[in-house]
Amino acid sequence: MSMNMDTALLRVQDLHVEFKTRRGRAMVLNGVDFEIRRGETLCVVGESGCGKSMTALALLRLIPSPPGRISAGRVMFQDEDLASATPARMREVRGNRISMIFQEPMTSLNPVLTVGDQIGESLRLHVGLDARAARDRAIDMLRQVGIPAPERRVDEYPHQLSGGMRQRVMIAMALACRPDILIADEPTTALDVTVQAQIFDLLRDLQRDNGTAILFITHDMGAVAEMADRVMVMYAGRVIEHGSTAEVLSRPMHPYTRGLIDCLPELGSSAAGAGEARRELAEIAGVVPSIWELASGCAFRDRCPHAMPRCAEQVPPMFGAEPGHAAACWLHEELATEVAA
Ligand SMILES: Nc1ncnc2c1ncn2[C@@H]1O[C@H](COP(=O)(O)OP(=O)(O)OP(=O)(O)O)[C@@H](O)[C@H]1O
Ligand SMILES: [Mg+2]
Repeated sequence: MSMNMDTALLRVQDLHVEFKTRRGRAMVLNGVDFEIRRGETLCVVGESGCGKSMTALALLRLIPSPPGRISAGRVMFQDEDLASATPARMREVRGNRISMIFQEPMTSLNPVLTVGDQIGESLRLHVGLDARAARDRAIDMLRQVGIPAPERRVDEYPHQLSGGMRQRVMIAMALACRPDILIADEPTTALDVTVQAQIFDLLRDLQRDNGTAILFITHDMGAVAEMADRVMVMYAGRVIEHGSTAEVLSRPMHPYTRGLIDCLPELGSSAAGAGEARRELAEIAGVVPSIWELASGCAFRDRCPHAMPRCAEQVPPMFGAEPGHAAACWLHEELATEVAA
């Protein structure tokens, strides 16, 4: 079987997630479509609450259920639909073929287990290594993620490590079994800028060496410019634009994406480095529609400077102008031209 960069490793189709709440059904994902290709980095951006983490959790079937559930859609991992896979099969996939690192490493590391035991756990479980081989491999992984004196660190507990080192341990855990896909949900938000830059470098190196595809969730457009091969922009539980990073950043086709990018100080000059402020997603006036309202039409229309009557009637489908660049807006062509001009 030959695979190259263009082969979709994971194909998410029409994914819906809802939560039962006392106020009624909360529609959290409303038909999410995207694919991850072998070895690429796909960044997911969008403001708080748009469904980035839920998308990641749904792929791994980690939506807290009840009250949440995947109510429709498919998560095709090669030829298998993970949305309907058995719990036993998901345990084989998680941490092995697809793994995840979270924003706050302290909540996902077990405080009473040594670093070595935690990295070794998935190796014993999935690869069948014995305790000794797992420990050796854990030391190896610690070295790979740039932790000094790994032979000593392997026997330490999480509280003995700095925040940056804990995040490296998380990455070592996530990559120990050489997964096909690494999901990184805001992996560096808790870290200072210097450590953040080191972690980005590390992820890029490990990706190059192992061919891991990365689904990278972030608020930081600087991180997007630096890390992403492709970007998908989410709004109110849907993907509203996706394309190559260069395309999306230089010719955004959706007014929401444009809003995000317009407010950014000089993207692309991100190599500058030291002392640089975080480029968070810009504040766009208005509020995201309630997740209890059943959407008719475009969810962004109340905040959109270009809204037309049509936008209230029908959800715009994805329109593609360039190959691989598409946006869910009736005005996609006009907007793209305007920016380019
Ligand atoms: N238990 C729950 N019951 C109802 N709604 C929920 C529940 N958990 C999450 N949600 C809703 O799901 C939506 C998507 O949340 P999600 O965590 O995916 O957002 P996000 O894009 O990751 O945001 P952030 O950038 O803040 O991490 C939010 O509107 C949130 O309110
Ligand atoms: Mg989140």
